[in-house]
Amino acid sequence: CGITAYVGTDDAVGGLLTGLSNLEYRGYDSAGIAVKNGRGLEVIKREGELDRLREAVGSERPTGGIGIGHTRWSTHGPPTDENAHPHTDCSGRIAVVHNGIIDNYDGLRTDLAAEGHEFRSDTDTEVIPHLIESELETGKSPADAFRAAIARLDGSYAVACLIDGEDVVYATRNGSPLVLGRADGRYFLASDVPAFREYTDEVVYLEDTDVVVVRPGGYEITDPNGIPVNRPVETVDWEPEAAGKSGYPHYMLKEINEQPESLRQTLHGRVDALAGKVDLPEFPPGTFEDVEQVQFVAMGTSHHAGMYAASMLTAHGIPAHAYMAGEYADCPPPADGRTLVVAVTQSGETADTLNAVRRARSAGARTLAVTNVVGSSVTRECDDELFIRAGPEIGVAATKTFTSQVAALTLLGERIAGDVTGVASAGARDLLAALSELPGDVQQVLDDGTAREVAEALYGCDAYFFIGRGPAYAVALEGALKMKEISYEHAEGFAASELKHGPLALVTPETPLFGVLTGKDETKTLNNLKEVQARGAPVIVVTTPRHASAASFADYVIEIPETEPEAAGILANVQLQLVSYYAADLLGRPIDKPRNLAKSVTVE
Ligand code: G6P
Repeated sequence: CGITAYVGTDDAVGGLLTGLSNLEYRGYDSAGIAVKNGRGLEVIKREGELDRLREAVGSERPTGGIGIGHTRWSTHGPPTDENAHPHTDCSGRIAVVHNGIIDNYDGLRTDLAAEGHEFRSDTDTEVIPHLIESELETGKSPADAFRAAIARLDGSYAVACLIDGEDVVYATRNGSPLVLGRADGRYFLASDVPAFREYTDEVVYLEDTDVVVVRPGGYEITDPNGIPVNRPVETVDWEPEAAGKSGYPHYMLKEINEQPESLRQTLHGRVDALAGKVDLPEFPPGTFEDVEQVQFVAMGTSHHAGMYAASMLTAHGIPAHAYMAGEYADCPPPADGRTLVVAVTQSGETADTLNAVRRARSAGARTLAVTNVVGSSVTRECDDELFIRAGPEIGVAATKTFTSQVAALTLLGERIAGDVTGVASAGARDLLAALSELPGDVQQVLDDGTAREVAEALYGCDAYFFIGRGPAYAVALEGALKMKEISYEHAEGFAASELKHGPLALVTPETPLFGVLTGKDETKTLNNLKEVQARGAPVIVVTTPRHASAASFADYVIEIPETEPEAAGILANVQLQLVSYYAADLLGRPIDKPRNLAKSVTVE
């Protein structure tokens, strides 16, 4: 979910709707706003996409300079008008928007119902306005009532609240993101900076348990007991256009095309190709010398980046494995002080990944966050952090962040291997030289039209399969994930070796199979592809010129520039991003907002 709030003297509705539209990537099954004005609190909320709320607001646009807003991704209760936020108390004097989950809502709801509170929704959120109301009834001031109500919540939450009679927004966070924006006399609260970036570049990153009270004249941040705390105002270094579509039909296509630039930012200042050295000032030489094993924890696309990195580290002789963070949290493998647990998460807010980090910490492991979002929860939970610097990613399907994750993890892997073994890896110099060339290579891939031709020839088939070995296996999984996420076509990735142990039974002339050939010797995968072709399936090979001639039997060859094998997977993946994008576009799918999916999943 995404929350936002606006505090000014002018039209809050405009600021709230802009904020919600910029936050839609966090969820979009219902949306709502509450605005405070002379007539009390006006709440408008609708099930469905933001346009339905816009229509509802359009005819009877409430006036007022202070308001809160929400775009929802359902956790408790289906998407309906009643379950949409803001939620109010019995009297309609208190309105609340919330992102996260209140673990103890059942008990609270029972207690409140016994006191006579009537509930209108199925949500956990609705207990919050009733709790505040109940605290107000004991004679507390609104600020004290808000704090007292929050103190009774267990779980993860970011909350913003309006109380009638007060020209104030109260807000707090605990385990869910919340940032404050400041622009001459106007203030914004939101789950993420893109919500208000077009109004200001001045941001305050709130910490867990901070309570912020925002008035038209200023704001105050305190701890839960009301003791003031100081949080610096920081300047965001990316432009507002970076959070807009910049003329592309979809954010996803824009973000695919941004990859030369985002990759440059990831690598900037971190690669000394001439000296064959990785320069990560965050981690002075020797930082990782005690590391005996590396465990990557991540979900979705980030998990594939972790797999890619694990296979590279393993090749350096370092025991490494990528775990799905949800599985890791439920069934943690052995870890101790010599285990480095690397949490890979674009958003830094994925609940499964944060939980895996907590499990790792409780086992005494060292934790390191590899993330795109400065100030995100994972950076607070981990001992160390490495930012991938990909810039904001709005499309639900991760693209440029995968590329930047793999690049950043490659650098990290070289540093870890160097510290553990005491020498730079044998291929370090060549690999770093290849990484320096990679932004230009990605541009060449973007300028090549083959992926689009393949999508045009093959969209609408029964299913799509992807195979590869080593790092290319991770790329095969990512290629399949992208295809299923945005085209809704059935797609699966397999290790090439696994193919004949079951998946081959699925192969027909209506199931194109993509082979990712980026390793040094791909003879075995080429043989696998011939087996598939013999059974009538169209075969598409994604590869460098090194293997392209050997793969000339394939129905389609999608070439990538020649590079080091460890870097080639990034290029192959960009080609597969394009195939999925064009296939989904030809099928008329809502590419930036695939059904049932959200960009940032802050529940387990
Ligand atoms: C969701 C998104 C995926 C993403 C995954 C992990 O499932 O839809 O695109 O890969 O979360 O997100 P993270 O922010 O932790 O990388």
